[in-house]
Amino acid sequence: MAGNPGGMRTPAVHIRGLRKNYHHGPLALGGVDLDVEPGEFFGLLGPNGAGKSTLINILSGVVRRSSGVAEIFGYDVETQYRQSRQLLGVVPQELAYDPFFTVREFLRWQSGYFGLRHNDHWLDELLSELDLDSKANTNLRNLSGGMKRRVLIAQALVHRPPVVILDEPTAGVDVELRQSLWRFIRRYNQQGNTVILTTHYLEEAEELCERIAILQHGQVVALDRTERLLAKSRNKRILTIHFDSDPGELPAPLNDILLGASAGSRVFQVDKDRPMGDILQYVQGLSSKIVDLHLQEPRLEDVFTDILQDARAHD
Ligand SMILES: Nc1ncnc2c1ncn2[C@@H]1O[C@H](COP(=O)(O)OP(=O)(O)O)[C@@H](O)[C@H]1O
Ligand SMILES: [Mg+2]
Repeated sequence: MAGNPGGMRTPAVHIRGLRKNYHHGPLALGGVDLDVEPGEFFGLLGPNGAGKSTLINILSGVVRRSSGVAEIFGYDVETQYRQSRQLLGVVPQELAYDPFFTVREFLRWQSGYFGLRHNDHWLDELLSELDLDSKANTNLRNLSGGMKRRVLIAQALVHRPPVVILDEPTAGVDVELRQSLWRFIRRYNQQGNTVILTTHYLEEAEELCERIAILQHGQVVALDRTERLLAKSRNKRILTIHFDSDPGELPAPLNDILLGASAGSRVFQVDKDRPMGDILQYVQGLSSKIVDLHLQEPRLEDVFTDILQDARAHD
């Protein structure tokens, strides 16, 4: 490992004051500080455009930072690119190009990039673990979206990197495949490797990640252990009520929990331990009548809203 003078454990990922200003673009990262510990399963969440992919692409050397520190196990991602890249596997959000290769050729080519020439034993293991054996000789261009996802995961791991970053690897992937991918990634993590995941599925982050950072407008706005970060939001329900006419002004107890409104409906956020009858009593006092209502678990967006409101309140 690189410099370790104080005997402190070198973080798997070390980021300080990281900024990225795209030419003719927005400030994508506005000074991010973040450490991910070796062996952690870490979640990087945030709305679209928050800067997640930019951060990941800086770590993998695809995007150049404007300023700040970014290191993989103590190796700078630009000035020590060869070392840092060797320690990192990245599953990109999208395959930028579609090479005219079979799956095995692609994985061999990727191995060659990392200087590995006799890697077939590990490639066979990857193919088998990711249920790709039968596709080894299929051209990448003839694979379904789900199969391509698996190949992207395999290509990220050809050099057995101790740090793997997955950028929304399960977007648009069916539930069954998602679960088998997670079993695989979890096992890789349990072998001592560090995993960083971005996802839009709250259940996924909640089930897999030990800690979560939330990025918004290029800033880390929340960072905590998963159960602490989500505790408050997990105690909420989303109540949607459709009325036969626009209910107009609501009494204070309903207005206080109002999340959204459209012509004939209102959306409320309700504490789990608050009796529903208590709320419905106010609803029944309105001149509009209930046509339909339903209760939902909060979506990731609602959790963001909640956490961000909280962060602002503490400013
Ligand atoms: N190559 C680029 N050139 C200019 N702007 C970009 C580029 N890539 C991303 N951006 C912008 O930077 C911001 C962060 O984007 P991104 O890192 O892709 O966020 P996320 O992955 O969280 O959705 C967005 O406003 C996006 O439009
Ligand atoms: Mg992205």
